[in-house]
Amino acid sequence: MGKNGNNDQKIRVMFVCLGNICRSPLAEGVFRKLVREHGLESQFEIRSSGTGDWHVGQPADRRMRATARSYSVDLEPHLGAQITFDDLAHYDHVLVMDKSNLNDVLYLDREDQFGHKVRLFREFDPEPDDFQVPDPYYGGDEGFRHVYEIVDRTARTFLHRLIEEHNLAPARHSSND
Ligand code: 4NP
Repeated sequence: MGKNGNNDQKIRVMFVCLGNICRSPLAEGVFRKLVREHGLESQFEIRSSGTGDWHVGQPADRRMRATARSYSVDLEPHLGAQITFDDLAHYDHVLVMDKSNLNDVLYLDREDQFGHKVRLFREFDPEPDDFQVPDPYYGGDEGFRHVYEIVDRTARTFLHRLIEEHNLAPARHSSND
């Protein structure tokens, strides 16, 4: 099988919310940064998407970008995408932000081929509350900071779980690299 740090196959992680402009782009950006800080970027493929199509091709929400930037997380490269059935086949972990996202994603997979890959992101939160990341879109700045705190804590726990499970170690580079 070999997702074991030898880099014979990347671990593919997809974060999903409704619009793909607030919560899941943040989760993608935070997780990317953590993976980079651990020297593991060559061992991961990381993306995000929304269940809706309203923001396909658009940048992340301005307020989410500003909050992320204040924690040194760069969401500027983000462009919105909508999740597809093929994504469910491709990714190993499809982590959704709330229970409505969970229903919508599972609806794409009516024969339940890939349901085992789809989980609420906050299942990995040590303080999971109701297991959902609240949607900050219609609220104030405090909501965006709250989402950041949840996402940061949960992404760290998720990464450490994967590091243990797959025995991941930073890729070694030979002097010829
Ligand atoms: P997100 O937030 O799902 O965290 O990206 C939302 C963004 C846009 C909309 C809803 C939620 N919207 O209705 O356009």
